[in-house]
Amino acid sequence: MKITENCSLKEHNTFGIEAKAHKFVEYSSVEELQAFIRQRSAAGDSSPLLHIGGGSNLLFLGDYEGTILHSSMQEIYVTANEGDYVYVRVTAGITWDAWVQYAIDSNWFGLENLSLIPGEVGASAVQNIGAYGSEAKDFIIFVDAVDLETGEIRHFTAEECRYGYRDSAFKHELRGRYAVTHVHFRLSHAFRPILDYGGLRRAIEERGFDETNLTPQQLRQTIIEIRRAKLPEPSELGNAGSFFTNPFVAREVFEKLAAENPSVPHYDVDAERVKVPAGWLIEQCGWKGKALGKAGVYDRQALVLVNLGGATGKDIKALCEQIQADVRAKFGINITPEVNFI
Ligand code: EPU
Repeated sequence: MKITENCSLKEHNTFGIEAKAHKFVEYSSVEELQAFIRQRSAAGDSSPLLHIGGGSNLLFLGDYEGTILHSSMQEIYVTANEGDYVYVRVTAGITWDAWVQYAIDSNWFGLENLSLIPGEVGASAVQNIGAYGSEAKDFIIFVDAVDLETGEIRHFTAEECRYGYRDSAFKHELRGRYAVTHVHFRLSHAFRPILDYGGLRRAIEERGFDETNLTPQQLRQTIIEIRRAKLPEPSELGNAGSFFTNPFVAREVFEKLAAENPSVPHYDVDAERVKVPAGWLIEQCGWKGKALGKAGVYDRQALVLVNLGGATGKDIKALCEQIQADVRAKFGINITPEVNFI
């Protein structure tokens, strides 16, 4: 176990915000994590505890006056093979995209559309990451976690995780109570590409790939190129991917919006609700490519807020609040951050 006191968090958040943690604990086994928790409980230490992954969905508003936990466990192993399916247990600390690449290289399919999403495997199970018509929940069977108060191991079925759009029980009733240590995925031995999202088919064609004979590597490459063209690289421009979730609006509200803006992009959720892209709403408010101090709105995707250099968490939050107020004033729609404010 590696413990660093007064640790800089700059390398642990993709916004590149300069903040410090009182203590940063990197554990390399479940037993180490359990021992740390039990020791802390025995000492009556109730200071704040935060488990992080790749820091791609966090905004530090100041220094963290507690302990930050991070897993350095790097293991992928097959637990079962049954017919078309392979079941694989993956440690939380593995970089998400390294896992996607590993799966494709192993001829385990399903994750191709989730290529290049930043962050680590543990966070995928908390956040239910998604892109281009796929979501992590489509492949998660179980989640192993450690109780941060008692050190006990818990297994959650996908049903108990209560997955929804960018949502899970780990963001609600289980919030802050568990450290996810492993995620169990069910992938397929057969490649069945999902190509229905937006311009994906066109992007495949433009690259000269044959849709009827597409390889998983070609699909992954296409997704990577689409993402690179639209989303900033955190090492070049600090950001946390989509800053807001796309709002679900009541059908009556949507119909009014569509009457005034016939070109509004949208996805039907169910009979009552329609999902409207927050990026479009923000762009309509004139924020795309604009800045408030050192915090900016990315010029190729208005859903992404960026650190233009030296921004604090509070600078980003101020921009977030201004955008929310403008979207509310213009459209009467509330948009909610996907990023966690710490
Ligand atoms: N749009 C605009 N202006 C913008 C951005 C988007 O008009 O500045 C419009 C687009 O033209 C398009 C629609 O909004 O018609 C949707 O845009 P896009 O396909 O880029 O997807 P998104 O809804 O903005 C979501 C995810 C992304 C994911 C993409 C692709 C959320 C919060 N975000 O974005 O996820 O990559 O779909 O599946 O659901 C992330 O979570 O960090 C992330 C990048």
